[in-house]
Amino acid sequence: MEQQLMALREEATLEFTKVTDLDVLNDLRVKYLGKKGSLTGILRGMGALNADERPRIGQIVNDIRAELEKIITARSEELKQAAMAKRLASEKIDITLPGHRPKLGHKHPLTLTLDRIKSIFMRMGFTVAEGPEVESDYFNFEALNLPKDHPARDMQDSFYITPDILLRTHTSPMQARYMQSKQPNEPVRIIAPGKVYRCDYDATHSPVFQQVEGLVIDKGIRFSDLKGTLDLFAKEMFGSSVKLRFRPSFFPFTEPSAEVDISCVMCGGQGCRTCKDTGWLEILGSGMTHPGVLEKSGYDPNEVSGFAFGIGVERTAMLVYGIDDLRLFYDNDSRFLAQF
Ligand code: PHE
Repeated sequence: MEQQLMALREEATLEFTKVTDLDVLNDLRVKYLGKKGSLTGILRGMGALNADERPRIGQIVNDIRAELEKIITARSEELKQAAMAKRLASEKIDITLPGHRPKLGHKHPLTLTLDRIKSIFMRMGFTVAEGPEVESDYFNFEALNLPKDHPARDMQDSFYITPDILLRTHTSPMQARYMQSKQPNEPVRIIAPGKVYRCDYDATHSPVFQQVEGLVIDKGIRFSDLKGTLDLFAKEMFGSSVKLRFRPSFFPFTEPSAEVDISCVMCGGQGCRTCKDTGWLEILGSGMTHPGVLEKSGYDPNEVSGFAFGIGVERTAMLVYGIDDLRLFYDNDSRFLAQF
């Protein structure tokens, strides 16, 4: 049995040193040292030995196992290193390859829409004015004919910071702010874009959204000026075939007031889901500046007259791009944004 063991040790050692492949080395380990391997096979014959022979042979078996395992470990280390050296020698990096281009972003669809609105009005001679989003009760309501407890305040449920300071509910406070920054009766032709805030949240209302206020004041400004201005704006924005409809409405700061609808951009006025079968879509509120509003800001309604309007930017963008859920604008999902 001892001879058998010595022969096995010699044969295994020789095979282990000749092997050049890690997988083959592993197969050999199983062949000699595995559960059904040669060494275990010999071990099974131990039953036939004398009781006093067993410990000695057992010791030899253990020594051979340990020795072979050592050889295997060393050999596998050698083979791994050789493989690595070979890879390093053959693998080349081409440093002249162009790098990964960083993805370029672009303007958000709401910014694109606002840019277009601004440029249309700037071509008509309007200048752009901006004012604070945190506004006083005075400018947001009082100066616009909305005294405390006026029921029309309910239409603009809002975020208060103190009883007298709030997040503006519309861009209309810019009407009063701008007039008060000018000489009495000085002509005005401005748009005032910016964020506004209301306690609303659903598919067509967000607690933060954007408006573009418009205000024109001069001697002899008439309702037909308002109509002409908004008609030109709508045709530039939505296409020359679009029709406008002025619907009588109420705002405390304009008199008369009108809500303006455009013929549905989806169905051309035939009636569809977007326009709820009416053929019309509301895009803005407007009217002739109320005499009280002029007076409160130092203008004389007997000398000058004016008109004002407030356009919803999100609403306009939804119509221009055919988007049915306004919340998509704020999700920052690049699969959505990449389409513009
Ligand atoms: N401020 C009004 C709103 O937010 C819109 C508007 C502006 C109406 C100017 C008339 C004149 O609904």
